[in-house]
Amino acid sequence: MASAPATVDHVGHVPVDDVASPEDTNPSKQDINPWSVSGEVGDDGKVKAIDYTKLIDEFGTSKIDDALLQRWEKVTGQKPHRFMRRGIFFSHRDLHMILDRYEKNDPFFLYTGRGPSSDSMHIGHTQVFDFVKWLQETLDVPLIVMLTDDEKYLFSEKRTVEEVMGYSRTNAMDIIAAGFDPKKTFIFSDFAYVGGAFYKNIVRFAKRVTYNTAKAIFGFDGSSNIGKIHFASIQGATSFASSFPHIFGHDEKKTSSIPCLIPCAIDQDPYFRLTRDCAQGLKFAKPALIHMRFLDALQGPGSKMSASDDNSAIFLSDTAKQIKNKINKYAFSGGRETLEEHREKGGNADVDVAYQYLTFFLEDDDELKRIKDEYNSGKLLTGELKAICIEHLQKYVGTFQERRSKVSDAVVDEFMSVRPLEWKGNPRVPRADLVVPVTKTDGATPTGDAAGTGELSKNAMKKLLKEQQIAAKKAQKAKEKEAAAEGGSEA
Ligand code: TRP
Repeated sequence: MASAPATVDHVGHVPVDDVASPEDTNPSKQDINPWSVSGEVGDDGKVKAIDYTKLIDEFGTSKIDDALLQRWEKVTGQKPHRFMRRGIFFSHRDLHMILDRYEKNDPFFLYTGRGPSSDSMHIGHTQVFDFVKWLQETLDVPLIVMLTDDEKYLFSEKRTVEEVMGYSRTNAMDIIAAGFDPKKTFIFSDFAYVGGAFYKNIVRFAKRVTYNTAKAIFGFDGSSNIGKIHFASIQGATSFASSFPHIFGHDEKKTSSIPCLIPCAIDQDPYFRLTRDCAQGLKFAKPALIHMRFLDALQGPGSKMSASDDNSAIFLSDTAKQIKNKINKYAFSGGRETLEEHREKGGNADVDVAYQYLTFFLEDDDELKRIKDEYNSGKLLTGELKAICIEHLQKYVGTFQERRSKVSDAVVDEFMSVRPLEWKGNPRVPRADLVVPVTKTDGATPTGDAAGTGELSKNAMKKLLKEQQIAAKKAQKAKEKEAAAEGGSEA
């Protein structure tokens, strides 16, 4: 990771020339938007932890409370994921509606995405996908993963179309490594898939959004390129089942009532607030959402891991040694100045980055509690806490790398090809109302003309996937060349 290019993070920090809106708000307040994330700066000049409760109020979402968690368990028969139990997925819109549908086995799908801004993904990027994998397993529903290569082109001064197309491919590999079921998962890149039924919905969406609305929600101004202003229609239209006739069929009378559940980081909410408004006007089902907090940067709460800052993040390509060094060197500690003081007064797990990471990666609730209690009482020292964290992160990244090494070009092509998906939903309730075509394993595709249905001909799709593959290989070569020219890497 000697020289990460100046790239936009999943949703986060961007170099100045990439910022969508020059309309800077008060820098001392916390500011969470799709392009940057920063905590409030206190009078002492220090960045405070992000106040997620405040975001629930500001954005007008709902808290995931105990009653909802209990209902989740009752309806799905599964204990909520540790991210839900621990307030990491802390907020939602209409999650009850999704549970109602699951109870009746009415169709819905999962939709999430990634802006392919570079090929150095970090562990902050994979958390949503790991959670979505669990959701897919728990609920047995289709998953649509959008790769917004167009977005990452439009919002950057430097990136070329070819570059972002290459990232789509390499990022898809990282995403697939989370372990999704290819029978139930469609991954697409905007450059490859926009057209047909999807494009119809994009334009319907665009017609409902005025420049004033886009400006108010996203902060654009007269100097923003028009692609940025229009982009919300693309990210939004992916929420509609009718954008995917190869999965949900061609009958809009039926598909318009199928909603999606969007697991995403909280900063993506503005897109979907707008989408829910548009859906209403278009008479499409409104998307439901479940919002995640960020994985703190190594430097501490108030910021998030950023792909453009090597020392802020643990990358999926980091070695065990790099992980150890980064945690030991950079992870913000809630420990005391001296050993004596720590033993006497105890540490503060709430601000400790190593502990925060364990809340993401350690499954066992009792063990997590024990660690917290022992750290706060002074029994457990910072070095010891960091060692536990290092061990878990090394295991996480190591097993990720193992799975990633098995993702071949053929596997990516399979996930990204336009084809029907198979799913059953709630196993306790027969799918009586089959508004969605039940597909067989023999690969038969639903009929439909290539002109207006969103289905690319097989050959056109093949060609696009090939193009993407070439772009990814080119980028890889350029990177290797660059690395060779630099002649060494950091310790
Ligand atoms: N805009 C997101 C990003 O930059 C990518 C994205 C598109 C997304 N659709 C999504 C993320 C749905 C979460 C959910 O990363």
